[in-house]
Amino acid sequence: MKTLEWPKFIIKWGQLMHKITVVGAGYVGLVTGACLAEFGMKVACIDKNTAKINGLKKGKIPIYEPGLEELVEKHYYHKRLNFTTNIKNAVEESEVIFIAVDTPTKEDGGVDLSSVFQVAEDIAKYINGNKIIINKSTVPVGTAQKVKQTISDILLKKNINITFDVVANPEFLREGSAVNDFLKPDRIVLGVESKSAEKVMREVYGVLDGHGIPFIVTNLETAEMIKYAANAFLAIKITFINEVANLCEKVGADVKIVAAGMGMDHRISPEFLQPGPGYGGSCFPKDTKALAKTGRDNNVPLTLVEQTITANEVQKQRMIEKIYSNMGNLKGKTIGVLGITYKPETDDMREAPSLVILEGLVQKGASIKVYDPAGEKEGQWRFNHIKNNVVFCSNEYDAIKEADAILILTDWSQFKHMNLDYIKDQLRGNYFFDFRNMFDRKAMEAKGFQYYGVGR
Ligand code: UDX
Repeated sequence: MKTLEWPKFIIKWGQLMHKITVVGAGYVGLVTGACLAEFGMKVACIDKNTAKINGLKKGKIPIYEPGLEELVEKHYYHKRLNFTTNIKNAVEESEVIFIAVDTPTKEDGGVDLSSVFQVAEDIAKYINGNKIIINKSTVPVGTAQKVKQTISDILLKKNINITFDVVANPEFLREGSAVNDFLKPDRIVLGVESKSAEKVMREVYGVLDGHGIPFIVTNLETAEMIKYAANAFLAIKITFINEVANLCEKVGADVKIVAAGMGMDHRISPEFLQPGPGYGGSCFPKDTKALAKTGRDNNVPLTLVEQTITANEVQKQRMIEKIYSNMGNLKGKTIGVLGITYKPETDDMREAPSLVILEGLVQKGASIKVYDPAGEKEGQWRFNHIKNNVVFCSNEYDAIKEADAILILTDWSQFKHMNLDYIKDQLRGNYFFDFRNMFDRKAMEAKGFQYYGVGR
């Protein structure tokens, strides 16, 4: 992994740097903390989960993220990165405080901001001098202003006269490449309200400024909106190609070539044009719902976003139907499922299409054998309700042995290199559902598989 290219430069900047606290040692917080330490700063990562913090101190990383363990180990050893549960000390000792806590989805599609405001209250409680408070959690437009108000109200009540700044600094980290995305971002978005806050933030990200990474400096609301608009747009783009793929199947077109042809138009770009069983993960489903709700709340319906949310659910159902309509009655049939995480290089199954698809197949009577290079731990509890029909296997060959069909739901690259002749031999049936279009139809048919991709 090419993350450590600028050590000398970073250390030079580090000598100028601020003391930073990152509140929340979850996915975003941990990557932020470790990468800011890589930029040479002194970082304390805080979490109220004592077991997590103790584990981190022993080098136990609670998430699977390539490159993160090495960074944490290195900077913990060099004392640039520390872990604590003591928010009082961390607030008192830092001038820059990142909020990177969970913002789960509520029943109505809105965002539960209770953790963000809890941190704001804690900061107000322990604030002892000028602080820059940066929101990294994904929060609806207007939240930074509310955080500011929450802290101001508490300080006013306590008659404390301390100045502080609130900054909106959304992250654009993709799971599986989050470390690289943080160290080499496309852009840094800063919502600020003062020149002094901008100056400090430019110092925090000084190593990136020095490498020509563009900075967008704007107001709080615009920065918050950029994050939602970017994620919603990508979700729409995926959904668009999924729907085009469905049509391609009916009219005899090949979506892979359609997407390649579209992507060569530089205004479109080939990125995020791969059809599949529907997008998942902790961001797209949550952020599209939150943006749609913001639209409804403001009487500005975001119809494309609303439709995308629905179409993505329909896509997962279509995958079940595709299997059912081709295999017929699934009672007594076994399906070997390869990949259950929402994408490769992560153990995360939040909103993974596999959750809906496997449940649907079991409801139709199928037995499932699963192999995922990283997803078993999470899969065991997520599929607990259908555990009598789901068996976890230790490799791809065990998962497909004597199965009637193979179903690829996540494009882990190791699946690309499977021994297909051996697999064909081991299978009971010959159905091959490749819902990530990893293989070539003609080659698969030549091997004797009944092959079904998406949109081809
Ligand atoms: C996303 C954004 O990319 C990132 O900028 C943001 O900060 C967080 O959300 P992430 O959820 O980690 O990142 O995954 P991403 O790689 O964007 O994929 C999301 C989902 O879309 C996955 O389920 C993936 O399989 C699917 N996808 C992606 C497609 O189906 N087709 C594509 O072409 C691209």
